[in-house]
Amino acid sequence: MQKSVRLKSFELVAGDIRDVDVELLHALSISVRWPHRPKDWELFRRAGHGIVAVDGIGRVFGSAMWFPQGDNFATVGLVITTPRAQAQGGGRWLMDQILEQCGNRNLALNATHAAYPLYVSLGFTSEAIVYMRQGEVQQTLPALPTLGGELNELPSDRLTEITALDERAVGTNRARLLALLAKDASIATLSRGGEVVGYSMRREFGRGFVIGPIVAQNAWDAVHLTAVHLKNLEGRFTRVDTRERDGVFAEFLQRSGLGVAETVTTMSKGRRFLNREDKNPWVYGLAGHALN
Ligand SMILES: CC(C)(COP(=O)(O)OP(=O)(O)OC[C@H]1O[C@@H](n2cnc3c(N)ncnc32)[C@H](O)[C@@H]1OP(=O)(O)O)[C@@H](O)C(=O)NCCC(=O)NCCS
Repeated sequence: MQKSVRLKSFELVAGDIRDVDVELLHALSISVRWPHRPKDWELFRRAGHGIVAVDGIGRVFGSAMWFPQGDNFATVGLVITTPRAQAQGGGRWLMDQILEQCGNRNLALNATHAAYPLYVSLGFTSEAIVYMRQGEVQQTLPALPTLGGELNELPSDRLTEITALDERAVGTNRARLLALLAKDASIATLSRGGEVVGYSMRREFGRGFVIGPIVAQNAWDAVHLTAVHLKNLEGRFTRVDTRERDGVFAEFLQRSGLGVAETVTTMSKGRRFLNREDKNPWVYGLAGHALN
């Protein structure tokens, strides 16, 4: 039976997010002032699964998505209820269905302030704060620390050189997602002693560019893996989502023109998601809020 919900005077049914015109999803994200372009929605639809809440004449009132990574893990994102239908139970209705679709996978997401109480009530627990840093990149970048290794550009057909490193940093295999992101990305690697010890991607997103993922062994490497992209983006609107509150990497971003615009909370359900250990690389920049 088709699932339905009544929000105010609207009778809504759940549909597959792949079946709606991308312009309707774009209008939905604009309604909550998110910067996603139709192209960004297309990428999300290729990367994951999701539902929309639609009325009898095909208008979209809400969305929610999930992105499988590895066998037993997924991230959740793009959870939106259009403002005129908020606080009527729509967000919970969407999330109940996403949780059903995810089955017994371990889950992680990045909660906005608006959504935080909903996720707590659904059994998610907080792990860390993500600082969304963005702005126009300074004409002159701050002085860089000494480079410990060699920076190279990685062609998108050589991703096997970074997937194992990425898995050590994230704790799950996201080769399929990286392949999708890499299609339109410029990728840098940092090597030491012939071994790749870090990588970063730069792609177009929203109002400008996003640098992420940024995976590195330490903050100094992360600075170099970010600077290599920023130096080509002077004056351009750029975003980095990071869990570094302060220290070398956060200060470098600040002085490059990327100030904190907003914070979200990384939450998980099931197995703990974040596991930072000195011997492992770390995610200094997220692929995106929905993707981690
Ligand atoms: C977050 C969002 C999806 C919630 O959607 P919604 O349809 O308003 O959610 P619901 O009506 O199902 O409410 C869910 C819970 O949120 C809280 N809540 C909702 N509206 C609230 C309000 N006006 N004031 C305080 N709490 C509120 C309540 O805890 C509610 O729980 P309850 O069912 O026990 O009452 C919606 O606000 C939204 O799209 N915001 C902008 C985009 C966004 O931040 N998305 C989240 C990405 S992680």
